[in-house]
Amino acid sequence: MFEGLLEGKVAMVTGGGRGIGESAVRMLSQAGAAVIIADIDTVTAGAVADDLISQGRKAHALALNVADFDALPSKVAMAAELFGGIDILVNVAGITAANPITEITASGWDRIMDIDLKAMFFLTQEVFKLMKEQGRGGKLVHLSSLAAQRGGRSSDASYAAAKAGILNLSKCFALAGAEFGIYSNAICPGNILTPMGKSLSWSQKDPKTYIPIGRYGTPEDIAYAVLFYSSCMSDYITGDDMKINGGLYI
Ligand SMILES: NC(=O)c1ccc[n+]([C@@H]2O[C@H](COP(=O)([O-])OP(=O)(O)OC[C@H]3O[C@@H](n4cnc5c(N)ncnc54)[C@H](O)[C@@H]3O)[C@@H](O)[C@H]2O)c1
Repeated sequence: MFEGLLEGKVAMVTGGGRGIGESAVRMLSQAGAAVIIADIDTVTAGAVADDLISQGRKAHALALNVADFDALPSKVAMAAELFGGIDILVNVAGITAANPITEITASGWDRIMDIDLKAMFFLTQEVFKLMKEQGRGGKLVHLSSLAAQRGGRSSDASYAAAKAGILNLSKCFALAGAEFGIYSNAICPGNILTPMGKSLSWSQKDPKTYIPIGRYGTPEDIAYAVLFYSSCMSDYITGDDMKINGGLYI
């Protein structure tokens, strides 16, 4: 239904090997983008890339640990070589934690901040520089969370704080990028059934008892918003965040 929308564009998706990232990769690819599936898990990323290539699409799996900060410049340069630059960056890679507030340790805190927040900043900074050099604008999309807006419940305070940081950094990139046609927007998913979602306590509840829409979210529910923020459909929107949670934030 959206074939051709992203024809000629190149999208890099971190955490694209499974869950929300995989769904985003498949939707961007269906819309015509060449996709770079950047994930620490090269097996899942490779399988997604192989599947898309077998359908005649442009795709490549890139081994990337987003928290390997020193390697980010060379990884972005490598990604930009593949299909001719980068037009869309989707920051999906992330981990969660679910410790009671009294049991969060300094090392656990640092791990969450490194992967969920610091990596988002330094990878986006690198791609932002490239987009400025390219001179053809760009779309930056970041996965935050409902936890950023109402505090961590199943996930913990360190995760909620990192995801709240993403909302702010997204606005900073939006301000810095506007004059160059570089857009930055964030997405705040509620309870989405993915491998990460299944590790959290909400997945043991009956969604009809607490989610107004009465079901968990699917990765596709989130991928539609990724597509929206990655395309010309959102060309007058920057520094925004979309809540996709079945009514959990009413
Ligand atoms: N599932 C939910 O309910 C939910 C809700 C709100 C926000 N989110 C956010 O959405 C994003 C995707 O969540 P998901 O549920 O699909 O998670 P997931 O655990 O199912 O998938 C995460 C992906 O990120 C990759 N990854 C993890 N660490 C990495 C690293 N250091 N470098 C590169 N890749 C790495 C994993 O290999 C995996 O492919 C995350 O940022 C998450 O915080 C998820």
